[in-house]
Amino acid sequence: MEKITLDMTGVLADAIGEPHGITAQEWDAMLPRLRTAQQRLCERHAMHQLGFAELPFDQATVESILKVAQQVRYRFDHVVVLGIGGSALGLRAMLEALLNPSVVMHDSLDRRSVPTLSIFDNVDPDAFVPGIQQLDWRMTCVNVVSKSGKTVETGAQWLIVRELLQKRFGSQRWKDHVIVTTDPATGPLRAMVICEGLRSFEVPPNVGGRFSALTPVALFPAACAGIDIAEMIAGAQAMAERCFSEAIEENSAAQLAGIHYLLDTAHQKSMAVMMPYAQALRRFTDWYVQLLAESLGKQGLGQTPIPAVGATDQHSQLQLFVDGPNNKVVTIMTVAHHNCAVTIPHTDEPSFAFLGGHDMATLLQGEAMATRQSLQEAQRPTLHLQLPRLSPHTFGALLFCYEWHVALLGELYGLNAFDQPGVERGKQLTREHLRQQRPMPSVA
Ligand code: PA5
Repeated sequence: MEKITLDMTGVLADAIGEPHGITAQEWDAMLPRLRTAQQRLCERHAMHQLGFAELPFDQATVESILKVAQQVRYRFDHVVVLGIGGSALGLRAMLEALLNPSVVMHDSLDRRSVPTLSIFDNVDPDAFVPGIQQLDWRMTCVNVVSKSGKTVETGAQWLIVRELLQKRFGSQRWKDHVIVTTDPATGPLRAMVICEGLRSFEVPPNVGGRFSALTPVALFPAACAGIDIAEMIAGAQAMAERCFSEAIEENSAAQLAGIHYLLDTAHQKSMAVMMPYAQALRRFTDWYVQLLAESLGKQGLGQTPIPAVGATDQHSQLQLFVDGPNNKVVTIMTVAHHNCAVTIPHTDEPSFAFLGGHDMATLLQGEAMATRQSLQEAQRPTLHLQLPRLSPHTFGALLFCYEWHVALLGELYGLNAFDQPGVERGKQLTREHLRQQRPMPSVA
């Protein structure tokens, strides 16, 4: 199986000069630190302290998910996911990347039997109410997803949907429409599962929201939607094996961590742009933003992630990246072999004649390289990550690569990448704020 490759030459002083690029001496001095951080992370993994790093090896969970997903596909036409943050973003990224028609046309599934899927990850009534009103509830399965089981947005959605199901189907049959994904032992959702006898999946206690894409949080709804989750896990496993390797040259996640850390702390590159030249990876950038921001934005540290997509954002944000403050590192991601091909017709029209006979993918790749060059000419650091193709396998590998990368960055900064005190404070204040409001009287 072809691998994801990383070209780091665009961050080096040889390419963009000093003071913006990393010198050979700096990188040499970084390597022992990186090895120590890598060793510490591997030790934590060996002591089973890194729940996310064990997920690619959990075949039993994948099998149990596949079994339930098959039943859901047989019985329902629609799956609704209620969840927010890490309980939604990984799934959104998977759906956009892998339910892409160019990927789907290679799978063997009869798509007529696959339910459609919607995700509600906000409490905006203008989105939620029309969303739930248009559903045929007889044919709808609700997957309520919350690791903690007590997130207010998901809680509010769940209370509304539960009442709707109970009114529609009565005191027992409503339960047939519900599958809960939450902590195995703690939280109000787990208590409800036990009390009501609801079907459920478990999120391992030591896997936090934004690291939970490879748990039932995203894998179950993704499997319902017909994504090949076994292949995705196989890709994550292949990447995990690379990430656990001590040889930094083999380990793209470790190289990425060393580079981002050096650029941020020694070269004032406090922003990290993620710019895939693949429309299907647009939602992956949202997942990346959360992973980086919520894991490392602590104690005044951490790079600010910026999502972008090529070629679209060449006509928008690129001006800033090339000519604005030189405080960013831009990761350009390309796909070596696109699943579809279309040739641009020949023309005598002088403005477009050079396009004739080229495949559209050649234009996209050319644009990626042009962006890289223009950034380089302006002494802006760039990284180039190349996926062999877009598939469940490569997507699983990509997710794990960035999870390990961010965990390693946590080691380098000396931060706990797995907590989120700022988010928790917001949750607490929301509860307090709501308690102070006068509610509508409940109707008996
Ligand atoms: O990464 C995180 O921990 C958060 O973004 C959570 O995923 C988010 O707050 C939702 O939490 P929960 O899954 O407990 O409802």
